[in-house]
Amino acid sequence: MSAPLRQGELAEATVVPVALGERAYDIAIGRGLLASLGARIKALRPGAKCAIVTDATVARHHLAAAEASLTAAGIASARVVVPPGEGSKSYATFQQVCEQIIAARIERGDLIVALGGGVIGDLAGFAAASVRRGLDYVQVPTTLLAQVDSSVGGKTGIDSPLGKNLIGAFHQPILVVADTALLDTLPKRDFRAGYAEVAKYGLLGDAAFFAWLEKNWQGVFSGEQSAGNLAREHAIAVCCRAKASIVARDERETGERALLNLGHTFGHALEAATGFSDRLFHGEGVSIGMTLAAQFSAKLGMIGDADAARLERHLIEAGLPTRLQDIAGFAQEGLADADALMALMAQDKKVERGRLTFILLEAVGRAVVVKNVEPAPVRDFLKDKLAQKA
Ligand SMILES: NC(=O)c1ccc[n+]([C@@H]2O[C@H](COP(=O)([O-])OP(=O)(O)OC[C@H]3O[C@@H](n4cnc5c(N)ncnc54)[C@H](O)[C@@H]3O)[C@@H](O)[C@H]2O)c1
Ligand SMILES: [Zn+2]
Repeated sequence: MSAPLRQGELAEATVVPVALGERAYDIAIGRGLLASLGARIKALRPGAKCAIVTDATVARHHLAAAEASLTAAGIASARVVVPPGEGSKSYATFQQVCEQIIAARIERGDLIVALGGGVIGDLAGFAAASVRRGLDYVQVPTTLLAQVDSSVGGKTGIDSPLGKNLIGAFHQPILVVADTALLDTLPKRDFRAGYAEVAKYGLLGDAAFFAWLEKNWQGVFSGEQSAGNLAREHAIAVCCRAKASIVARDERETGERALLNLGHTFGHALEAATGFSDRLFHGEGVSIGMTLAAQFSAKLGMIGDADAARLERHLIEAGLPTRLQDIAGFAQEGLADADALMALMAQDKKVERGRLTFILLEAVGRAVVVKNVEPAPVRDFLKDKLAQKA
């Protein structure tokens, strides 16, 4: 049975194209779009079956609606539900997901649907890249971080016991459906952490967007659409446009795509120092990392102190941590040790032959990739920061 798109379903979506030639796809953004998922899939791949990969928390909130949308479009689907959390980006869970996809008789021409945050997107995307040497997949991101970042651009993968995201593949989805209403059930702390990535897009390449966020961030958080206020949808669309154009120019991160790592060299070291635990969410590490990158840029004379202070002020206003001292248990173990943090930064994937690469700021709204950064000034800078009062 074919279920034509109902009037309004497409009209309410903002569509951002990702121009990657034969791997091009659309990102559809809007409140309530999950209801149109089945019709959108049917339009792209008539006759395809689906396996929905999700986590138990997202399943509780949104799996029934996703399945109903597929059923309404006459699409058969199986479900693969994994435990929530970063721990699912493991060899063991990856194996289970692949086996369940195969057992559900998902074949070439069928689809994987990744319904969840960045963990599910990365895990399901990597399973899609691997089963039968590559199945098509659709991203249905359910966290703010996933809607503005991880669901777009085709980086998929799992963690090795030796480090995050070390096993993976580039595999682009054929469609991204970002239903902004799904974020209403997201815990506030997760939303805030994702917001750090939203602010990142303003800082790295769009001064006007950063200024807009300074005025409108509360509307992004509330998601209210009264009086034509579409702040959340607007912000997500701006981020997706920015990411789509960077990815279209540098799909495999040989250059410009590295700008998206603003705040991430410091941030990843902090995440590692806190054991990738609930003490510090990824976006919280990025928030502190961006503040440090701005302050380090100021120390090098690339931006003024006032610019660094402006960035920090906005992140604080949005409820994000910006200082090393904001991390729970900061004074303990390796965290308060500049050499330990330097060692963690040296393990980052982006390190080339022992030299650090940093994304630094030339202005609010203009980031640059700086390779071959000498470790000594970074260590001194961190020592200064660590010496500050809590
Ligand atoms: N592929 C990329 O380009 C890329 C980019 C950035 C981050 N990542 C990866 O993304 C992951 C982090 O993603 P994340 O922050 O979305 O984490 P996540 O997927 O673990 O989601 C965070 C938590 O929110 C819950 N959740 C998700 N959606 C919900 C909803 N709508 N309502 C209620 N609860 C919900 C999840 O169950 C989980 O407990 C990391 O593994 C990171 O490496 C990938
Ligand atoms: Zn990030």
